[in-house]
Amino acid sequence: MNLSIEPVAPAHFEGLWRALDTVAREKRFLAFTEAPPWESSRSFYEHIIANDQCQVVAVADGQVVGWCDVLPGMGQTRAHVGTLGIGLIPSARHQGIGSRLMRAAIDGAWTRGLTRIELSVRADNANAKALYERLGFELEGIRRRSMRVDGVYHDSLAMALLRRDDGG
Ligand SMILES: CC(C)(COP(=O)(O)OP(=O)(O)OC[C@H]1O[C@@H](n2cnc3c(N)ncnc32)[C@H](O)[C@@H]1OP(=O)(O)O)[C@@H](O)C(=O)NCCC(=O)NCCS
Repeated sequence: MNLSIEPVAPAHFEGLWRALDTVAREKRFLAFTEAPPWESSRSFYEHIIANDQCQVVAVADGQVVGWCDVLPGMGQTRAHVGTLGIGLIPSARHQGIGSRLMRAAIDGAWTRGLTRIELSVRADNANAKALYERLGFELEGIRRRSMRVDGVYHDSLAMALLRRDDGG
């Protein structure tokens, strides 16, 4: 398999949207249970590029198989904070691609001057939680009943990574 981790570019948009839709429809991992409509997704990706925000994709043999982004929120007091999101289509999991995506996105976040990366992960998502811990994220709390899927509530974990003083 020919795999590369690349900054998102217009050529990736459709594949990225399809990958998001695939993972969302599993209904076990993401806030979405299907991808947002194509037009709004494309605008969202264009906004990321136009504002030099941090999003990388994993491309395997020409197909987008996953993504990781660290995106800013609103407000001057939160300008140093990015929120991380990641996903791989099922066939691309457990091969170290998640770690590679995360390392690239974390480096990209620090390069852009962020000093805190936070995320939210469903409490029963052991694979993702283990990956985050391996990369240094620490548990900050539990968001109770923060997700509801088909009428069933799920807690999620609040985790964060702070940039070290030496920038690493
Ligand atoms: C969470 C997720 C991104 C993790 O990515 P991943 O690529 O599977 O993670 P990694 O490869 O880094 O690590 C997972 C496993 O691969 C193993 N691995 C790491 N490098 C490897 C390599 N080079 N070759 C083979 N296996 C490897 C790890 O030891 C680990 O093993 P384990 O699952 O038996 O513990 C991915 O599972 C996913 O997309 N899940 C669905 C969406 C999701 O949960 N998103 C996060 C929402 S908060």
